[in-house]
Amino acid sequence: MTLTANWSYPTAIRFGAGRISEIADACASAGIKNPLLVTDKGLAGLPITLATLDLLDAAGLGRAIFADVDPNPNEFNMEAGIAAFRTGRHDGVIAFGGGSGLDLGKMVAFMTAQTRPVWDFEDVGDWWTRANAEGIAPIVAVPTTAGTGSEVGRASVITNSQTHVKKIIFHPKVLPTVVIADPELTIGMPKMITVGTGMDAFAHCLEAYSSTFFHPMSQGIALEGMRLVKEYLPRAVADGSDIEARAQMMAAAAMGATAFQKGLGAVHALSHPVGALYNTHHGLTNAVVIPAVLTMNRPAIEDRISAAASYLGISGGFDGFYDFVQELRADLGVPDKLRDLGVGTDRIDEMTKMALADPTSGGNPVKMTPKNTKSLFLDII
Ligand SMILES: NC(=O)c1ccc[n+]([C@@H]2O[C@H](COP(=O)([O-])OP(=O)(O)OC[C@H]3O[C@@H](n4cnc5c(N)ncnc54)[C@H](O)[C@@H]3O)[C@@H](O)[C@H]2O)c1
Ligand SMILES: [Fe+2]
Repeated sequence: MTLTANWSYPTAIRFGAGRISEIADACASAGIKNPLLVTDKGLAGLPITLATLDLLDAAGLGRAIFADVDPNPNEFNMEAGIAAFRTGRHDGVIAFGGGSGLDLGKMVAFMTAQTRPVWDFEDVGDWWTRANAEGIAPIVAVPTTAGTGSEVGRASVITNSQTHVKKIIFHPKVLPTVVIADPELTIGMPKMITVGTGMDAFAHCLEAYSSTFFHPMSQGIALEGMRLVKEYLPRAVADGSDIEARAQMMAAAAMGATAFQKGLGAVHALSHPVGALYNTHHGLTNAVVIPAVLTMNRPAIEDRISAAASYLGISGGFDGFYDFVQELRADLGVPDKLRDLGVGTDRIDEMTKMALADPTSGGNPVKMTPKNTKSLFLDII
């Protein structure tokens, strides 16, 4: 099977190894003549980034780059990016990177058209309708990790550096116009980032699948996404240059983000405050949290998880699925507790409040309360 295709769901996706060579053409189809490539500090000097700039340059599109982007990017990164966008008179963004570069790039394209502060566009009710949709710049997204699926998402996660809260900023036009999903770009990803991002994709599928909202399309995508992670994440971690495994993981990541339009749940509600306060890696934090959340949600999801286990070829119903998750974590070297990521119990009441206020908490199949949420934190730290 050739793992190359053009998909138009949920947006235009040029999928396949080597397809970064089409970057200039992707800009043309998005209507971009003077792109600003936005990425994070870590990627700025890597060969995959420089080669992409070379391709743009050769096509007469310049080689403008903005890379002052932190992991868990914040509003200061965004303001600086908007300034670079305006100074260079750019007409579109190439959002390049893991979730950090992708999310920040998407926000630069979105916010360059706005006069209100970014927090006014949090994913609450119809707040997105407050935005001026006209001036939003087109976005070409190029993922270099396989996890967040932000390349096919209509939201970005931005950390408010004053309140240390991760906010989800939503607008339908934040969905990139064109995606180049080239698994070769992920070959140099360090092992623990491969693990963390891969487990983020798994968490997206699992939480979307477990959420009780009505969305049968998402259900099917989430189920197959979990299967791909089960088959291919261990392979991608064992041999980073296994291009088939890298490709399947890149598909699983996009599937996770497509599926979580249905909803997320306690894994993300807990992991957002932890990431915002302790700057831990998002996906790795999720990976630590998953088993405790499965246990808490068991009464509400037992049947559904048993069905998933059958599809994934796991015997033993819910228990078999739980054991599979524990084994996967152990095989991949995921730390058992958040303590191992430097998280203590001293801010547990604050984190409990933040988790309950997180918009993802509403999707959890068991209602999250101050009591069960604090117990979860005690359990996972
Ligand atoms: N928008 C969404 O829907 C969504 C969903 C989940 C998470 N997120 C956000 O995404 C962020 C996390 O993204 P992430 O997990 O992809 O990590 P990341 O983007 O922070 O990248 C992690 C590290 O890996 C490096 N890196 C990335 N690609 C590489 C490559 N190919 N080779 C070598 N190094 C590489 C980066 O430089 C960085 O140092 C968090 O801010 C999280 O909140 C967003
Ligand atoms: Fe996530």
